[in-house]
Amino acid sequence: MKFFLDSADINEIKDALSFGILDGVTTNPSLIKEAVEREKSRGKKIDLDSYINNILKLCNGKPVSLEVVSSDYENMLREGKMLYKKFNKIAKNVYVKIPINPCLELECSNDMEGIRAIKKLSDEKIPVNCTLIFTPEQALLAAKAGAKFVSPFVGRVDDYLRETAHIKFNKSDYFPEEGWKDGKKILNDRGIVSGVELIREISEIFRKQKIQSEILAASIRNTRQIREVAIAGADIATIPFNVFSKIASHIKTAEGMQKFTKDIVPEYAKLFGTEIKK
Ligand code: E4P
Repeated sequence: MKFFLDSADINEIKDALSFGILDGVTTNPSLIKEAVEREKSRGKKIDLDSYINNILKLCNGKPVSLEVVSSDYENMLREGKMLYKKFNKIAKNVYVKIPINPCLELECSNDMEGIRAIKKLSDEKIPVNCTLIFTPEQALLAAKAGAKFVSPFVGRVDDYLRETAHIKFNKSDYFPEEGWKDGKKILNDRGIVSGVELIREISEIFRKQKIQSEILAASIRNTRQIREVAIAGADIATIPFNVFSKIASHIKTAEGMQKFTKDIVPEYAKLFGTEIKK
């Protein structure tokens, strides 16, 4: 499974790249807002053109998703083409992020605007990351329209299930992949009992239907979800920095290191030309 960073913060991107295992970056308007506000709070005026250029150069060939802002076909298409034309020449790594369904209201007559935009951009060989996916059917549709990445929102599925059942929770709380038992009933949204299950179903469909689009597990809230989406068949997980930086931690690893460090005898340290501080 590939590891992407879910961030528009240039310092986080630099740090994550320094780990040497980063495969790409995803942004969205909310992450760009955070980055803009952070720069402003540091007294810096942000020039978004060069800020994005820098991210693309740093990522050098690794996919970076940039999202459109409109919600109708014509404008999403225009924005998608603009993003690609303006930024892809920097490092050949732009993926245009298009919502599966850009309707701002629940009842909407233009449900297929996102699909139309994905199809048209894909036909023009512009790689698309289809975002805001909450059902396997949406993923199937996005893939059929030509999306290279389909992004199911794992954490937001779990949030939604708890919210609709009025369960209090913190966003980083673990949500069981087999679902949440509320009395005798397991919470579900159209039969989907957790974000991880959503990934598993999409993965099964893509395998059976021989679909090439990659499943990008988004909206990741904790490290255990990374393991679970990998088992469920995600090709990529996009991970916020605060979760990314915890993946390698374990209390017993730290304890083990303390013991090994304590046990280093001078003779062994000399072998490395290292001085061990005790
Ligand atoms: C990335 O592609 C998504 O926009 C992002 O993972 C959403 O995460 P959130 O649900 O934590 O906002």
